[in-house]
Amino acid sequence: SNPSLLILPGDGIGPEVMAEVRKVITWFGDKRDLAFDVSEDLVGGAAYDAHGVPLHDDTMAKALEVDAVLLGAVGGPKYDDLDFSVKPERGLLRLRKEMDLYSNLRPAQCFDALADFSSLKKDIVAGLDIMIVRELTSGVYFGEPRGIFEEGNERVGINTQRYTESEIERAARSAFELAMRRNKKLCSMEKANVMESGILWREVVTRVGADYPEVELSHMYADNGAMQLVRAPKQFDVIVTDNLFGDILSDCAAMLTGSLGMLPSASLGAPMDNGRPKAMYEPVHGSAPDITGQGKANPIACILSFAMALRYSFDQGAEADRLEAAVEQVLADGVRTADLLGEEGVTPVSTGEMGDCIVA
Ligand code: NAI
Ligand code: MG
Repeated sequence: SNPSLLILPGDGIGPEVMAEVRKVITWFGDKRDLAFDVSEDLVGGAAYDAHGVPLHDDTMAKALEVDAVLLGAVGGPKYDDLDFSVKPERGLLRLRKEMDLYSNLRPAQCFDALADFSSLKKDIVAGLDIMIVRELTSGVYFGEPRGIFEEGNERVGINTQRYTESEIERAARSAFELAMRRNKKLCSMEKANVMESGILWREVVTRVGADYPEVELSHMYADNGAMQLVRAPKQFDVIVTDNLFGDILSDCAAMLTGSLGMLPSASLGAPMDNGRPKAMYEPVHGSAPDITGQGKANPIACILSFAMALRYSFDQGAEADRLEAAVEQVLADGVRTADLLGEEGVTPVSTGEMGDCIVA
């Protein structure tokens, strides 16, 4: 049977960019004999409007069954005053938690045609293609004790950085697997100089590395890593780091490459019975209420998220390359959505026109 894909367009520009991914999926079925069983459902505000919850139990069950989930974006001003328990982002958090997606892949890739968009000098970023693997389900955002407590005559705010060996091990393993598929070069970042969790992190990553003798492993303190990312980002290929450092370093790396409308992501969990990892793919951007309904949204982040699904869930690396090459070609041809306008005298194309160009 065909591989299965659950599409959750969500809110705002989510359905607009997902319509372009649909064109791409149809193209692969027609032209490359690569068909998917696609189902579609609601998430976020759209699910709240229909069911009173941001993710229906049936949708959750479906997400746990399919080979991969592709999500657009959730949220919007209409839902800002809802109770926290039914806010759109809770739908997203529930998916991540129940699918146990512990490994977050954030590529920072600079297409030559857009190198002028970077906040850095063109030669530092042109041709950049790195991947940050962020541990997503543990660390200081979740560790106990946490809270604001009375201490003497004042209050103290406490969070706890906490990592078990098995949590580090599974994140490290997914990063090594990724390094094997890429250029066999992995840099692990922590602060083993001042943090116990960092000492354990370095020890476990090194131990896992013994199973991947072909991968060249290095270690770097995360503060130096931040500096190196903006000084000479091309020295890296895959970076693996914890939840907090990964949050900061991946946002930093993202801006090396320009627009939010270009950035895909993948969140992976444990292998399922069929050997594929549990997986959700989504653009990094949100629902962009300021441009919703105007045909201005850039669909590339969502289309590149589908390319990641081809590569990491469906073992179709060559087809993923084909799709990425199409995006690169369209950009080299000067086709631009409004968020990518820099040059004088360029008329932006609509969301739908960008999708059509990529398919063509
Ligand atoms: P945002 O990412 O939606 O928008 C930030 C800016 O980037 C806006 O000016 C927007 O027009 C622009 N932008 C974003 N994606 C674009 C695209 N594909 N093409 C062209 N321009 C694009 O972040 P913001 O404004 O902070 O949040 C808006 C809503 O989205 C909020 O409700 C927020 O909670 C939600 N959100 C959802 C996320 C998700 O579903 N994963 C992530 C971030 C925010
Ligand atoms: Mg962040």
